[in-house]
Amino acid sequence: MPGKLKIAVLYEPSDNVTPPERERRRRREKGAPVGGRKRERRAKLDRDEVLEAVRASGHDAFFHELKDEKSLLELARIEADLVFNLTEAYAGDDSKEAHVAAFLDLLALPYTGAGPQALFLAQDKALAKKVFTFHGIRTPNFASSYRGKVDHVDDLQFPMIVKPGSEDGSVGIDAGSVVKTVKEMMERIAIVHEHFDSPALIEEFIEGREIYVGVLGSDKPEALPPVELDLSKLPKGMPRIAGKEVKWEKGTAAYDVTRSAVAHDLPEELVRRIQETALAAYTALGLRDYGRIDLRVTPKGEIYVIEANPNPWLAPEAELAIAAAAAGRNYARLVGEIADRALSRYA
Ligand SMILES: Nc1ncnc2c1ncn2[C@@H]1O[C@H](COP(=O)(O)OP(=O)(O)O)[C@@H](O)[C@H]1O
Ligand SMILES: [Mg+2]
Repeated sequence: MPGKLKIAVLYEPSDNVTPPERERRRRREKGAPVGGRKRERRAKLDRDEVLEAVRASGHDAFFHELKDEKSLLELARIEADLVFNLTEAYAGDDSKEAHVAAFLDLLALPYTGAGPQALFLAQDKALAKKVFTFHGIRTPNFASSYRGKVDHVDDLQFPMIVKPGSEDGSVGIDAGSVVKTVKEMMERIAIVHEHFDSPALIEEFIEGREIYVGVLGSDKPEALPPVELDLSKLPKGMPRIAGKEVKWEKGTAAYDVTRSAVAHDLPEELVRRIQETALAAYTALGLRDYGRIDLRVTPKGEIYVIEANPNPWLAPEAELAIAAAAAGRNYARLVGEIADRALSRYA
């Protein structure tokens, strides 16, 4: 980063709420939106880590907490060369994630990460899948419906997975999400509608390895080495998915036996295709600066995009940082590079 800059690390207080807590709250107050930043397995909040990394590179860094209308209006007056945008919600409502970026655009405040269009597209998983298909990117066949109103239906085969159409952090995804019969499927669709007031996304279940690809950049994005979440040691009978047990339930077998690490054993040609697919998905949705594409790779080497994550979890133990380290960037360099790439957009 050039010279000494003033950098505001912007976050939203429901970042403190873990997805399981969010889910419990939703059950209590159905329909009430409660947001929360993807905090998969995090020990320390990524905003603390990002602030420290920015300070370590010699810049002036400070927090701006976006907690209410007052702090929103104060944001219009902050003096900052760059906003490091870690928000994923506004006023606890994660459907307003894109609005925060749009507000920063209106203020002409330079900020890191995706713009409102990409945040909006990625949040609606069914819509994102339609865009992937248009671009020839393979994604599981699916149906999407909201309380009996069908949006889209492919010719589907069991087993399938039923999930909320616009959540993250595996909220609403657990061992019961993988269904083998019409009865199980209908029951899970009802659960999604009841607990999340969201369309249900019903996808063919893709048996295969769970691969995450970090991507950096904008015009000419670069795919980092693929990282695998090894699900092979999950207890017998549990579906091999990164459900909420795997991401959140510390102390359980599901949590303890699953780890993310660079997938060193993938053939070179497959790595190349995985990275090309990730770049295509990143570009198709218009992600910027940094992102993470979640994929499944079948034993035959078929690559399916499960979802695209703009502004993904950015702690040192996150998959993005693991991948960046394998590509020769330590954590401070990764954070610095994201800030640099954002700044160059406004130069
Ligand atoms: N079609 C699918 N086939 C196999 N596994 C899936 C499929 N969809 C989701 N999963 C599993 O569920 C996990 C969470 O799904 P995802 O759509 O990425 O939700 P989130 O946005 O909460 O991370 C994935 O990482 C994967 O393990
Ligand atoms: Mg995911």
